Amino acid sequence: MAELNIKRHRRLRYNPILRNMIRETNLTKNDLIYPLFVVEGENIKNPIKSMPGVFQMSIDTLVEECKEITNLGIPAIILFGIPAHKDEVGSGAYAADGIIQRAVRAIKKEVKNLFVITDVCLCEYTSHGHCGVLNGEDILNDETVQLLAKEAVSHAEAGADMIAPSDMMDGRVYAIRKALDYKGFQKIPIMSYAAKYASGYYGPFRDAAESTPAFGDRRSHQMDIGNANEALKEVETDIQEGADIVMVKPAGAYLDIIYRVKNKFGLPTAAYQVSGEYSMIKAAAMNDWIDGERVMIESLTAIKRAGADMILTYFAKEVAAFIDKHQ
Ligand code: PBG
Ligand code: ZN
Repeated sequence: MAELNIKRHRRLRYNPILRNMIRETNLTKNDLIYPLFVVEGENIKNPIKSMPGVFQMSIDTLVEECKEITNLGIPAIILFGIPAHKDEVGSGAYAADGIIQRAVRAIKKEVKNLFVITDVCLCEYTSHGHCGVLNGEDILNDETVQLLAKEAVSHAEAGADMIAPSDMMDGRVYAIRKALDYKGFQKIPIMSYAAKYASGYYGPFRDAAESTPAFGDRRSHQMDIGNANEALKEVETDIQEGADIVMVKPAGAYLDIIYRVKNKFGLPTAAYQVSGEYSMIKAAAMNDWIDGERVMIESLTAIKRAGADMILTYFAKEVAAFIDKHQ
């Protein structure tokens, strides 16, 4: 009888020092992009009820927050704007003195060494809360794309370092790339929300951004939750149209998509751990049902292990503090 040869995998797990040495996936601060919500007014820091630890901030407060973020070693933020006035065509989105445009100018003037990404969509700016201009209840694709290109250019003119279209209209990356180049912004990269699903996990964000659609939903442009091949098609199209970084969103429930996108295209790949993912962990932790810090790190490590090169997460500040504490 052949001698039984036990494989002793546990040998590498007894010593915590060795465990750390052989860990294949480690979070670093360079993985982090912190989403922020900016509103009109002064000295405002409104807590978002469904997202403990997240706030709507006026520009002055936001600038101070950005200094703190930079001091923590977080390299990048992504900005979402909530305008005072909304209309049918979302004109606040591409106004030279819009909320995002002024916020970016203020940050660029007062904060050094922070990479500023702007989210490009219309839903925060339209009175009906849809991601584009409407004909009845239909979103008009090509008309919307023209406005998104205008929005992107106005963000670049304000000093944005990277443009992130989140609308899921067809042809928007092409239109944005063309418009940016035409205006002399060849150096500004595009991070496209390439595979963005019609997800129930966005609920808390819509409170934060005040962008819940007045009727209907986003299923005519965001992807169906059951589809994976379609995600690869969407990503491929965005790359052909000029995307420099492609994003999968949400993250935790779509690790297979992150893995496939990274494997197939090898491009820098971002993943968005969205509001609902954050809120669920926070809520369970606040009830003492889970160890919040531990699950935070576990969820983000899993997203990175799946293939994400960078993660948009509301935990960014807590992760940076965690990294400082444990190094
Ligand atoms: C806007 C946009 C949304 C998110 C990012 N950009 C909401 C949506 O599509 O309804 C979601 C982010 C989150 O849930 O944290 N198009
Ligand atoms: Zn939108």
